Amino acid sequence: DYGNNTVSYRPLYHFTTDSNWINDPNGLVYANGQYHLFAQYNPQGDKWGHMSWAHAVSTDLFSWSEWPLAIPEIQHADSTTTMIFSGSAVVDSFNTSGFGINGQPPMVAIYTSHVDKAGTGIAQHESLSYSTDSGKTWQPYAGNPVLDLHLTDFRDPKVFWYAPEKKWVMAVVKPLEYKVQFYASANLKNWTLLSEFGGIGNVDKIWECPDLFPLQVEGSNETKWVLTLSAGHQQKGFIAVQYFIGTFNGKTFIADKLNYPLYIDYGKDFYAGITFNNMPNTDGRRIMIGWANCWNYANDIPTKGFRGIYSVPRELSLQNTPAGLQLFQQPVAELNAHEQQLYSNAGINLNNTAQMLDSAKGTALDISFTLDAAQEAGIQVFKSGPEQTTIAYNNITKIISINRTTSGDTSFNTSFASVDSLQLPPTTQKINLRILLDQSVIEVFVNNGAYALTTQVFPKHNQGNIELFAKNGKASFEDINIKQVNK
Ligand code: FRU
Repeated sequence: DYGNNTVSYRPLYHFTTDSNWINDPNGLVYANGQYHLFAQYNPQGDKWGHMSWAHAVSTDLFSWSEWPLAIPEIQHADSTTTMIFSGSAVVDSFNTSGFGINGQPPMVAIYTSHVDKAGTGIAQHESLSYSTDSGKTWQPYAGNPVLDLHLTDFRDPKVFWYAPEKKWVMAVVKPLEYKVQFYASANLKNWTLLSEFGGIGNVDKIWECPDLFPLQVEGSNETKWVLTLSAGHQQKGFIAVQYFIGTFNGKTFIADKLNYPLYIDYGKDFYAGITFNNMPNTDGRRIMIGWANCWNYANDIPTKGFRGIYSVPRELSLQNTPAGLQLFQQPVAELNAHEQQLYSNAGINLNNTAQMLDSAKGTALDISFTLDAAQEAGIQVFKSGPEQTTIAYNNITKIISINRTTSGDTSFNTSFASVDSLQLPPTTQKINLRILLDQSVIEVFVNNGAYALTTQVFPKHNQGNIELFAKNGKASFEDINIKQVNK
């Protein structure tokens, strides 16, 4: 009930834990028909703290069931605490670690131990925990840490199997130096430095949460490597996930000459994205999940009973564009099975006016259309009385924007109310939009996923009205489809 201010903003089809705080997705890994998702989690409250790994499992990337806490914070006898920071998980198919029992491959989590020792301060190093019961229970490795440079900031290991040389590779960051380091290991326990990457891209903010993976260029046999990492946003003072495309020879990543920084998502609410390990070869997809939140105000958002949600899982692809290679993304196709057609229309023409779509209300929707605007046109969602979020495209300036200044509650943090925008290539004419709505989050995919913008909103009187508009001239909306997403 919005009037009584008891609305929780809990999403219907975006992941969150039953209660408490989450930030980064961790340890995304596929094993035996199950997708495992771990989360930076505070078991004791709905603000950041006591960082531990929560755990959830899905067979379809849509419905998640929360499993018991996987890796808890450690309280040592001398009042030192070790928090479990971000990292990854692998299936150790050849039992290189020796953790396996009864011929079953162990699952191994590789994460940052954030040690706060009274009197001596902070240390970060990389540690292991393992599971011999398909992820149900986890034991810390007695020989932790496995990689220690004696730094205060050294974190977020992403480990994957590099098949050509039958070895493990780790990407890990020195956040304050804007450096990604690559290490190799035969057994997950001993690591050797391979190379370092840096001196390029956005360095307005510290570097966090790297990932490195191969991806085939669509329509060719060529495989490229993509390095993603969390860093500064195009809008100074905020954070985002940037990426580089290049080559990796098992030792060194070299970025192609492209117009960096390039971002996975141009909204304010997409951070710490990483991809699934160990996808079956028959699948071939590269799937990323990000934290749909932003550190500037993450601890203040007015959700109730939980705080923090994830983006929908997104399938990544590499496509050639006039500006060069680019990462594209789409919600995974598994979403379609949970959708029900609410509204469709082959074409609506507007001329300096607006039209409400009365039969297509909703707060958990998948909206798509192609837009041909003389000047500025777009859509308002989560609309009710004075509240709405406006997604607009200006075909003169080629700027797409999301305006959440009147989206509802923006008072909880002064940096929240904002208009986020992105300039599309000058040749752009018609654009197509796919817009996912879910109670308090909007994910916009532009031109078949060439760009994405994710934003949180907190409507106070959420009747879920939708209105199309055209300003200063004509606009046509073609192939409009609005689907309701059902849990
Ligand atoms: C990114 C991050 C990581 C760190 C974790 C701590 O959001 O700062 O670098 O491991 O969150 O919760």
